[in-house]
Amino acid sequence: MQVVIIGSGNVATVLGRVLVKNNHKVLQVVSRHPEHAKTLADELGCTYCDLDGSINTGADIYIVAISDGALYGLHNKLKLGKKLVVHTAGSVPLEVLKDVSENYGVLYPLQSLRSELNDIKEIPFLIDGNTVETFTLIQDLAKSLSSNVVKATDEDRLKLHVAAVVVSNFSNHLFALAEEFCQKEHVNFKLLTPLILETAQRTATHSPANMQTGPAMRNDVFTLDKHLRLLTNHQKLRYIYLKLTDSILREN
Ligand SMILES: NC(=O)c1ccc[n+]([C@@H]2O[C@H](COP(=O)([O-])OP(=O)(O)OC[C@H]3O[C@@H](n4cnc5c(N)ncnc54)[C@H](OP(=O)(O)O)[C@@H]3O)[C@@H](O)[C@H]2O)c1
Repeated sequence: MQVVIIGSGNVATVLGRVLVKNNHKVLQVVSRHPEHAKTLADELGCTYCDLDGSINTGADIYIVAISDGALYGLHNKLKLGKKLVVHTAGSVPLEVLKDVSENYGVLYPLQSLRSELNDIKEIPFLIDGNTVETFTLIQDLAKSLSSNVVKATDEDRLKLHVAAVVVSNFSNHLFALAEEFCQKEHVNFKLLTPLILETAQRTATHSPANMQTGPAMRNDVFTLDKHLRLLTNHQKLRYIYLKLTDSILREN
């Protein structure tokens, strides 16, 4: 397909690379800041402009990968007639694009995407479209990029986005806090990498509820007390440690 990408952040960059890798043609990158559009356009080998500029009208699909809030006002800046336009957000309804074009949909990558990471693994996509024809076109594109493509309503996409925040954003925040703790306490955070990977890997084959280990699961009050005393100088981590311990204890 011939594609125009609107946005130049993490998702725009990663999807741009995946599109090119799978033999699609990116015609243009459009972004609020033209210098951001240029950086991505140079990498993808295409033209660029800002949102007020002359947007290429010859593409088969327009992929809008801009911040969630900006999607709501996009129709004031962008009118695409009957051209197929999709957004990439987990928690924004399909209908947000109804005044941008008659044909619209969603191409939501259910993955944490960062433009600085070059090793792109296969991305699962949750997709939707406002008509059968629109949906079929989005499905064709998504399937050319990934073998993991699922239709999802606004409601299901929103629910999965909440779960995605918990499993990815929250666990990464815990990793960051643990890393900071290790640095301050002069122990090697990298020694925890096999543990992090094993914990995540197990979710593919087992229910996490059945895999819980650790002092809270064992109701090991002696060890919990020792940990909390060590965390006296790490108040933020201590607060979260207490909250999560309480949650695990309540499950038992
Ligand atoms: N990153 C992820 O892991 C991920 C995964 C799945 C879905 N998503 C969704 O994908 C979308 C883009 O996320 P991202 O991570 O790529 O964000 P990002 O890296 O922060 O990039 C944000 C983009 O939005 C543009 N933008 C911000 N405010 C704008 C405005 N008022 N008007 C026009 N453009 C505006 C920025 O343009 P300029 O740089 O030119 O200002 C930039 O291109 C979001 O809907 C997000 O929920 C993200």
